[in-house]
Amino acid sequence: MTLSYDGKREILKHLNFVIQEGTLVCLLGPSGGGKSTTLNLISGLLAPTAGHIFFGDKDVTKEDALARKVGMVFQNYALYPHLSVQKNIEFPLKMAGLSRGDRAKKAKELAALVHVDDQLDKKPGELSGGQQQRVAIARALAKEPSILLLDEPLSNLDARLRIEMREEIRRIQRETGVTTVFVTHDQDEAMHISDKIMVLHDGHIQQYSTPTTLYADPENLFVAQFIGEPVINSVPASALSHDLAGVVPADILSQAQTAGIRPEALTLPQRALNPLTTLHGKVVEFDQFGRESTAKLDYNNLQLISTEMGQLSHDTKELDFTLEKKGFFLFDANGKRIFGGDDHAE
Ligand SMILES: Nc1ncnc2c1ncn2[C@@H]1O[C@H](COP(=O)(O)OP(=O)(O)OP(=O)(O)O)[C@@H](O)[C@H]1O
Ligand SMILES: [Mg+2]
Repeated sequence: MTLSYDGKREILKHLNFVIQEGTLVCLLGPSGGGKSTTLNLISGLLAPTAGHIFFGDKDVTKEDALARKVGMVFQNYALYPHLSVQKNIEFPLKMAGLSRGDRAKKAKELAALVHVDDQLDKKPGELSGGQQQRVAIARALAKEPSILLLDEPLSNLDARLRIEMREEIRRIQRETGVTTVFVTHDQDEAMHISDKIMVLHDGHIQQYSTPTTLYADPENLFVAQFIGEPVINSVPASALSHDLAGVVPADILSQAQTAGIRPEALTLPQRALNPLTTLHGKVVEFDQFGRESTAKLDYNNLQLISTEMGQLSHDTKELDFTLEKKGFFLFDANGKRIFGGDDHAE
């Protein structure tokens, strides 16, 4: 499908994707990439300029959000402030005409599912941010939605609560089996909870695959740089061409514009598992924190970060280090991956 808000500029360009029933998919990407627009097309709040949307084998393109039976949760909780938790959860059930007794029973079940069953009589203003989001999720689930859509539901929470709540959303999704689409610009969040991640940038799907595949087999430089912490080392391929000659086929090397090296793909020769080549450089900085360490290396005046140098002594200055095959990629001038990763992945 395609979407333009003003009839001139295409915001989403020929998006074509399938979300498997019962799975959790994250829409991930930088601000302005089209995540919310895509979610609003699924919900029925927006209509595509061209193309169709199917729920199962039913074409819902012309149906509104109510007819599609979507459940939605937004960044700001949007609970009714004057209603109790129980009444908030019951609200969609009341609209659906359920009896008072049935509503109360269902609301209590949902409150137990999201762990707010001891807060039923409180007003939203008396709850923490995380508790409010739990209530918002329970309310969205009350109408037994065909799909649950969440737009950055955790971005108003502090770092610790975000981590707790993302696990909770995953648990609730697994327990209910409801098909869920979750929007976030936080790659760590997406990597932890998703069955599949759709990376959106500039109105295009950059890649749509499992978290493992996104990390190990990025299809392009954008995905390689967006996924992973510490971020992938990217350097001009020409800087490595001497060391890669004979290791990478000459025709690939001649097209390569950028090399991407995961921080764990740089290691000491004695620690290497599947070495591609050995480089010579300098240690600029070495930091050890707990069991983890980071080394800043200088190779031909390029700075490279490694997390796999183990314990370096502080007087180490010059050294040989290995470039591992896994976690090393070459990209052409368009950013397309032309070397490294698994070409046969999904
Ligand atoms: N109502 C609108 N009218 C016109 N243009 C819009 C409208 N809403 C969004 N856009 C444009 O569409 C593009 C995608 O916006 P969208 O809100 O989908 O991005 P997003 O990925 O959700 O970003 P964020 O992470 O900031 O929420 C942006 O260029 C934005 O300016
Ligand atoms: Mg958005």
